[in-house]
Formats: sequence, C-alpha cells, structure tokens
Amino acid sequence: MYDIPQIKILSGAPHSSIFKATSMLGIGRKTIHLIPCQENREAIDIERLTEFLVQNKSAPCIVVANAGTVNTVDFDDLVAIGQLKKHYRFWLHVDADFGGFAACSPIHRELVKGMDYADSITIDAHKWLNVPYDSAMQFTRHKQLQVEVFQNNAAYLGGSIENPDFFDLTPENSRRFRALPAWFTLKAYGKRGYQNLIEQNVELAKQLGNKINNSSHFKLLSPVRLNVVCFTLDKEVITTEMIKQFLAILNQKGKVFMTPTIYNGVPAIRAAFSNWRTAEKDLEIIWDALIASV
Ligand SMILES: Cc1ncc(COP(=O)(O)O)c(C=O)c1O
Repeated sequence: MYDIPQIKILSGAPHSSIFKATSMLGIGRKTIHLIPCQENREAIDIERLTEFLVQNKSAPCIVVANAGTVNTVDFDDLVAIGQLKKHYRFWLHVDADFGGFAACSPIHRELVKGMDYADSITIDAHKWLNVPYDSAMQFTRHKQLQVEVFQNNAAYLGGSIENPDFFDLTPENSRRFRALPAWFTLKAYGKRGYQNLIEQNVELAKQLGNKINNSSHFKLLSPVRLNVVCFTLDKEVITTEMIKQFLAILNQKGKVFMTPTIYNGVPAIRAAFSNWRTAEKDLEIIWDALIASV
C-alpha cells in the first residue's frame, strides 16, 4: 500500500459541481475544506485562507477561487490569492464559468484582475455566450501535465505527445466539434459584440436591482456586481415553500424564468441576465410579472 498524501481543496463558496468532481475523481467530497467568506459576501476571507495554508504547509492543496459565484456573482480577491502563491505551494483553479466574461468589458474587467495567476481556469460559453450546451472551455498553464494524464496513444489515431490532439488532452476520446458554435459567435460579433452583450446584461441587472431595492414587495440580498440579482420577498418570515410558490406563479406566466436559491440562510430568488436579446423594454415586462406574482 502506498501512502498517498490527502489532497486538500480549499474554497470559500464553491459551486456544487466542485463537490461532484471530487466524488467522480475518487478523492471524495470530504477533501473540500470550506474557508469562511468575508462578512455578507461569498468572497473568501484571505486571512482565513492564509491561516489554513500556514497550518497545512506540507499538504498538497488546491485553491478553487471563484470568479463569479452562482448566487450573487461575487469574486474572490484573485490578486491576493495569486500573491499567496509566492509563499505557499498550491494549485490555483479559477472557476470563472460565468464571471470570466467580465474580462470582455473595460468597465467590469477589474473584477477578474489577478485571474492570470491561475494554474487552470474554466469558463462556460454555454452560459453568457448563448451557445448551445455543452461548450465549456478550460485553460491550463500545465499542458504537459494534461498530456501525461489524458494521452491516448494508438498507432491508428496518429497523435503524438509532442503534438497532442484533443483526445490527448481531455477525458473524452471521440468528441464532436464543440468549439464551432462559440467560434461562430466570435466571428459574428467579435470583441465588441461580446463587450456589448456583457455590458447590456449587467446594466439591466443593476436597474432591476435598483427597482427591487426601492420596492416594498422585495428585498435585495446583495449588491448587483454583474448579471445576477439575488433577492427575496419582503416578509418577516420567508420559507422555501413561499419562494417555491412565488416562482411557480411567476414562471408559469411564461414571460420570465427565475430560479430559487438559499443565500446566507435566507430562501431567495435569482434573476440572471444572460440573453443577448434582453433589452431595456424587457425590464417593464419583468417588473410587471414580478408584481403580479406577489
Ligand atoms: C460558478 C459556476 N461554476 C460551475 C458551474 C457548472 O457549470 P456546468 O453546469 O455547465 O457544468 C456553474 C453553473 O451554473 C457555475 O455557475
């Protein structure tokens, strides 16, 4: 029996898929150590992360940083985490599935400052680029390591380690041309088109956030940083059942579709803006639907 050192995965508010991934890898969900977040935020508390790294200096660690959490699209301080790499050894993965696209806009780019410290980054084109499922992208600084893990040598395939094909870099062997729809969007809209899409959605999310903040029916639970508005009903006691009922009425109208969540222990609602066709005029439709569902 080999004594395999127990990997420790550290994160503030990891997406549920991180837990699933550890389970699929066979290292188990218990390898995830939740580091406390800053008060009223989903961004990791850097001091608490540092403490953990100091106490576990000899353990292999992966820090899963968030560039856009699912509830409130909060961002870890990627510069501060990147600086920690100078003193502690860990792999830095940035989950930028949603928030990575902030980089397309000079107004919002600051949110992902420090993303370039990452060893690996994931971004989903099937979210904010509006392309069909499944179109995730992964970036790595360690291509050679990726080849060592995923290489699929067979004379008939004609690949080589020096010049790896996708089947030497990913879990799948046969795969369809997933990149094509994302490539089309880039050709059709370009850098400027991506920027417009991001900025338009964020502007509308902020406007809805303001409306909610000024309303007597709803309560905004977090500042709108990017494209998600996280809010709840303005009632003394809110239960998951109340949110479920509210969303059933709202979504059944077929005008908007919002999802439930729990944020800071409070049953809540997520309104995520990501469609390229959503425009200023839709805010009125959204608002009317919300009010009619109370
Ligand atoms: C921050 C974040 N990470 C990971 C995921 C998982 O993405 P997918 O369901 O496309 O695998 C999501 C999906 O909402 C997400 O928002």
